[in-house]
Amino acid sequence: MIRKCLFPAAGYGTRFLPATKAMPKEMLPIVDKPLIQYGVEEAVSAGMKNICMVTGRGKRALADHFDTSYELEHQIKGSAKEAMLEEIRGLIDQCIFTYTRQIEMLGLGHAVLTGEALVGDEPFGVILADDLCINPGGDSVMQQMAKIYEEHNCCVVAIEEVPMEEIYKYGVIAGEKINDDLYRITDMVEKPSADEAPTNLAIIGRYILTPEIFDVIRNTPPGLGGEIQLTDALLHMAKEGKVLGYRFKGQRYDCGSLEGFVKATNAFYEMKT
Ligand code: UTP
Repeated sequence: MIRKCLFPAAGYGTRFLPATKAMPKEMLPIVDKPLIQYGVEEAVSAGMKNICMVTGRGKRALADHFDTSYELEHQIKGSAKEAMLEEIRGLIDQCIFTYTRQIEMLGLGHAVLTGEALVGDEPFGVILADDLCINPGGDSVMQQMAKIYEEHNCCVVAIEEVPMEEIYKYGVIAGEKINDDLYRITDMVEKPSADEAPTNLAIIGRYILTPEIFDVIRNTPPGLGGEIQLTDALLHMAKEGKVLGYRFKGQRYDCGSLEGFVKATNAFYEMKT
C-alpha cells in the first residue's frame, strides 16, 4: 500500500497572472473548492494519507488551507454554514501534511527531488493539482494507478490520447502494448513537435514513482528550457523497462490553462447544480 503522495506546487503559474501574483495557482477554485483540495481528496481515495507538499515563496496559503481557521470556525459554529467546512475538516483529520520549499524553480524533476526529504525511501504518488481528474461513479485516477502499481511494482505514469495539434504541450511516450490500457514505455519525448512525436499518448499530471527515481534525477542534467525534467529521469528508468504508461479511465481538465480552467468550472458547476 502506498502511503505518501507528493504535490509539486512551487511553480509560478504565470499563465494565470495577475491572479497568481500573490496567490498560489493551486488555490484557484473550481466552483467553491481550490484545486489542491481536489488533488488531496484524490490521494486520500487511493489510501495515500501522508501528503507531502513542495511549495515555494508566496505559497503559504496552501499550508493555511490545511489547518484550522480558529476565528472563522468559531464565528460560524452552529450555523448552516458550518457544513461547508465539513469536507476540508475531514481531510485535515485523516491526513498528515508535511511541507518543504523549493528554493529555486529548476523544473518538475528538481521539485520531485526536493520532495525526497519528505518521501524518504518508499514508493509514492505524485499529483500535479492543476490537472484535475475525475471518474464519476468509478475509482479515482490515483486509485486506478495504485492498483497497477500493486500488480507490477514499478513506476506508473498516467497517459491520455491528445490531438496531434496539442502534442507540443506534453511529454509523449512510445511503448509496447501490454493490454488496451497499459504500455511498457520504451521512449519519452518532452514537448515534441507533431513531426517528432512518437505517438499521441501524452503524460498527464499523475505518477507513481519508486524511490530509485531520486538518484536518477540527481544524475539528470538540465534539459528543455534549462530545467531538470522529470521526463528525462523517467526515460532513463524506462530504458531499463521500469516504467508503465497507464491509459486511465475518467476525464482530465488542464486547469493550468485558461481554457481548461473554464471548461472544468462549467462542468463542475453543472455537476453541482
Ligand atoms: P507548469 O509547467 O504547469 O508550470 O508546472 P507552472 O509554473 O506551474 O505554470 P505556468 O506554466 O507558469 O503557468 C507543472 C507542475 O510542476 C510544478 C508546478 O507547481 C506544477 O504543479 N513545478 C514546476 C514545481 O513545483 N517546480 C518547478 O520548478 C517547476
